[in-house]
Amino acid sequence: MNTRDTQTIRAYRVFEGGKFGLGRFAEMRREDLDEGNVVVRALHASVNYKDALTALGKAKVANRFPVSVGIDVCAEVLESADARFAPGDTVIAHGSGLGADHDGGYQEINRFPGDWLIKLPGGLSPFESMAIGVAGYTTALSIDLMEHNGLAPGNGPVLVNGATGGAASIAIDLLSARGYEVVALSGKPEAEPYLRELGASRVIDRKTFEFGTRPLEKPMWQGAIDSVGGEQLGWLTRTMQREGVIASFGNAGGIEFKGSVLPFILRGVRLIGVYANSPIPLRERIWGRLGTDLRPRHLARIARPIAFDALPQVFEDLIAAKVTGRMVVDFSLR
Ligand SMILES: NC(=O)c1ccc[n+]([C@@H]2O[C@H](COP(=O)([O-])OP(=O)(O)OC[C@H]3O[C@@H](n4cnc5c(N)ncnc54)[C@H](OP(=O)(O)O)[C@@H]3O)[C@@H](O)[C@H]2O)c1
Repeated sequence: MNTRDTQTIRAYRVFEGGKFGLGRFAEMRREDLDEGNVVVRALHASVNYKDALTALGKAKVANRFPVSVGIDVCAEVLESADARFAPGDTVIAHGSGLGADHDGGYQEINRFPGDWLIKLPGGLSPFESMAIGVAGYTTALSIDLMEHNGLAPGNGPVLVNGATGGAASIAIDLLSARGYEVVALSGKPEAEPYLRELGASRVIDRKTFEFGTRPLEKPMWQGAIDSVGGEQLGWLTRTMQREGVIASFGNAGGIEFKGSVLPFILRGVRLIGVYANSPIPLRERIWGRLGTDLRPRHLARIARPIAFDALPQVFEDLIAAKVTGRMVVDFSLR
């Protein structure tokens, strides 16, 4: 590590400024690395909606300044004082305060506690693991939870909201592969060919669709994956079939929704919150499924690699909902 002790480490960091901080590229040194017992070299890191919010100072995500942005990373172990990991291992980290309390994924060399890491599961390349990233992990966890709550192919359509988003794109892929009839709700009607290619059998245009206001609308969905929140989550509760199950994990469309208890008490609708910052054994189980029976089929279509330098523009595009699918930083691209 002697040569690395003097090496400059490039990072995309958020500094104090504006309402919630301001992001920019910065250089760090080995002595600036956060606490931990495993030193890693970043291979790939995904670009998530939350990362864009942090980088552009649009929400309070960073709990300290400066902090390197990025809620997930796939990395190669360089040094380890944790017996579970050895130099050369490929590991995944996400959540655990990355990009908020601890330097996150957009940093060439990083240091993490071994307790936050899992090994890259069989069946996935480093690029594929971050093409999935937190978004795909959350989607897979949603499907796992929904199926434990009665979701089954043949019981009716499953609606995927914010359909062209990263998490939603993977949801369409995974659900259609499992035999579900998937209906995509999107603000980008021009993306219909993309959504059908992933496995959607129908695409609804959010901008022209009549959502209605009655406490119980016509029941349409046995399941819904919602990364959007806001009023559309309220509409989902009103349009679920009896004992339909909604997985809610996002707020791209707002944090508040109106509703009544009628869908819950008259239709037994199940509204499940999904939190990706899971304990390690659950991560290992869900990532294991992502490498096997929940392996996405269309990752090459959904995700594309970008150079580290491209991050600022991608952040702007994500906040403007202009991005289709997922962007993955490839640290080897110049
Ligand atoms: N709870 C957790 O642990 C967890 C984990 C992962 C992600 N998340 C959350 O999940 C959400 C999605 O993440 P992501 O990485 O998939 O983001 P993303 O790629 O930016 O996708 C969000 C999608 O939502 C739709 N959208 C954007 N603005 C909207 C609006 N005003 N109204 C309705 N739809 C809108 C757009 O799709 P269309 O144009 O196709 O409608 C957009 O592509 C974020 O809120 C993120 O923070 C939470």
